[in-house]
Amino acid sequence: MSNTSIFIPQELIRTKRDGGIMAKEDIVSFVAGITDGSVTDAQISAFAMAVFFTDMTPDEGAALTLAMRDSGDVIDWTKYGFDKDAPIVDKHSTGGVGDKVSLMLAPIVAACGAYVPMISGSGLGHTGGTLDKLEAIPGYDPYPTIDRFAEIQRKVGCSVIGQTAALAPADRRFYGIRDVTATVESIPLITASILSKKLSAGLRGLVMDVKFGNGAFMQTAEEARLLATNIVRVAAAANTPTVALLTDMNQVLGTTAGNAVEMVETIEFLTNPTNADVRLLDVTLDLAAHMLCISGAKTDLADARKSAETALNTGRAAEVFSQMLAEQGGPVDFMEHSEKYLKIAKNEKVILAESDGFVSAMDTRAIGMAVVALGGGRTDPAQKIDHSVGFTEICQIGDKVKQGQPLARVFAATEDAASAAVATLTTAVQISSTAPSIKPITAEIIRG
Ligand code: URA
Repeated sequence: MSNTSIFIPQELIRTKRDGGIMAKEDIVSFVAGITDGSVTDAQISAFAMAVFFTDMTPDEGAALTLAMRDSGDVIDWTKYGFDKDAPIVDKHSTGGVGDKVSLMLAPIVAACGAYVPMISGSGLGHTGGTLDKLEAIPGYDPYPTIDRFAEIQRKVGCSVIGQTAALAPADRRFYGIRDVTATVESIPLITASILSKKLSAGLRGLVMDVKFGNGAFMQTAEEARLLATNIVRVAAAANTPTVALLTDMNQVLGTTAGNAVEMVETIEFLTNPTNADVRLLDVTLDLAAHMLCISGAKTDLADARKSAETALNTGRAAEVFSQMLAEQGGPVDFMEHSEKYLKIAKNEKVILAESDGFVSAMDTRAIGMAVVALGGGRTDPAQKIDHSVGFTEICQIGDKVKQGQPLARVFAATEDAASAAVATLTTAVQISSTAPSIKPITAEIIRG
């Protein structure tokens, strides 16, 4: 318990600045002040910087996460007729390039009997966002009411929405201030930010896809492991069993990067999985298996992976995806006639290999930034993006290529933008004379 009966924000900041341990009640008061505006931007940024330099104990981290989760609505599924033990589960990725996994994962897991109320975000920096990809579909409403969100869960088993103002509003303000005060890169603050949003969906379990590599925010597996371990620990303290997969983001995930183009890859993946990119398929099935087990829908990981594979191969997951899109306002024949609905930019250029050899490395962040430069991502949070631009047929590490053979295709709004993207991709893809060693995409699993 704090010594002061009236909460004074600067006293809490002083405690943290000097390496002390904050009382849970004071953390709760501070978060209440973030939400109602009684704590100033200056105090929030000083607090963030104090945490950045002095870290947080697991108890402080759990208190911050729960206070931020409770700053808005927390969905109670029993109110909507779900059993208290219903397998309600979500996945969160720390962000990558070409990461369209959520789009196939939600229907696969739903087709296996779990419920996936997925709260997704927009792209951040060089990484793409699931919400942006869904917004490429005409009519898709990512902001249904919570009642409608629950109804879609009941009917279809999954629904992918954007974060509404009602869910974890403290994070919205706090994140905005961190973004402009160089305090995003703090493990306890990232943990509280991610978990407060995810846990507001009232989950029975959560699977984290913590990415490492040159296309991720965490450059090394060590950094990713620290973040994953902290998230798993704080989520356990918040009574939400969580498992984290450390996955490799040293190359584009799948063969597309953009918005509409990633939606095309998603449809092909769901309707014709035998042609799916192997790494994309692997990570999707790995994540699906863990979601089914952590939610209690399955007990055995190998069996869960088999079920996920069957849901995909029988076309059941594709049906669920189609139903979800229609329930959220998308075209009913979207899966059959997506080319009618998805606009792809007209200026197309092919990026060609400059020598014979093997694709041995890729500057994945540069490719993500090339999508941003094409207009497919944002340089300002308020910016409208161009869903029609991006890359397709992107080569994969290990591919054997001949000089003049395509490494990728770009679709751009103008001829100049296409040429700039060709130049970026040509330097971003490294070709060497020896074949690189290929590592599995899931490098490690961190459990609570
Ligand atoms: N994504 C979030 O939602 N929050 C962070 O702090 C960092 C990445």
